Amino acid sequence: MKIAISGKGGVGKTTIMALLAREFKKNGKEVLVIDADPSPHMAQTLGVSEKENITPIADMKELLAKRAEKTPGSPFYQLNPQVNDLLKDFMIEHDAYKLMVLGAIQTAEGGCACPENHVLRMILKKLLLTANQVVLLDMEAGVEHLGRGTIAGADHLLIVVIPSKSSIRTAQKVYKLAKDVGIPKISFVGNLIDDEEDKTFLSQGLGTTPIAFFPNSSAIRRSERTGEPIVAISDELNNAPSEVIKAL
Ligand SMILES: Nc1ncnc2c1ncn2[C@@H]1O[C@H](COP(=O)(O)OP(=O)(O)O)[C@@H](O)[C@H]1O
Ligand SMILES: [Mg+2]
Repeated sequence: MKIAISGKGGVGKTTIMALLAREFKKNGKEVLVIDADPSPHMAQTLGVSEKENITPIADMKELLAKRAEKTPGSPFYQLNPQVNDLLKDFMIEHDAYKLMVLGAIQTAEGGCACPENHVLRMILKKLLLTANQVVLLDMEAGVEHLGRGTIAGADHLLIVVIPSKSSIRTAQKVYKLAKDVGIPKISFVGNLIDDEEDKTFLSQGLGTTPIAFFPNSSAIRRSERTGEPIVAISDELNNAPSEVIKAL
């Protein structure tokens, strides 16, 4: 299963991905987390201390150059190796979590995000998984990945939404784009929920009930302040992580 996450900036995408990584691991799954945010901090939430040992895919210029051929006139890199083999070089394993960081590929033209998006699309489309493996893709905010079809290879998109009008508006925009891209399953996940009123506000605003509601948690806030990994918090969060996994 390949799960991507989207939603407005700061709604809790990275936090929820870390909590899902932990929950999948508890269920005996092999978890690969791909951090595709240009300012990645998934490592921190997973408690990966040897961050400097992670080679972002984007930095493996030599390998990319060897394996990639630029098609004349096209901004895309054609990568045709065995994707699974290629990716081994970019993974680091910590506490049974596998982590990969996409990074930002610098091109001669400068600034073009096309090659890295192409790499991401290729990874999602071609990565072969066994039934016991799960890929969690954390992304930056915004709809660019959907617009470019980068995450078209995901099986499931989670859209994180908090009880605010603007968050609901973004979520609905993301939903529509994801449908257009053809992602098979799309679900809303509520975050920063204080009470029943928040749940009702979200369900009515979205026109459907989210598959899970993550509480506004002092344990999460504390972990952000102390730098403790999210995966180390003891709050059960009203079973929201297991609710998500049940619904997938
Ligand atoms: N359920 C929650 N309860 C309390 N704080 C939260 C919760 N979810 C996220 N946060 C906090 O909100 C901030 C943004 O979360 P983050 O996961 O980085 O968002 P995103 O990845 O969507 O930008 C972080 O400081 C995080 O600790
Ligand atoms: Mg994030």
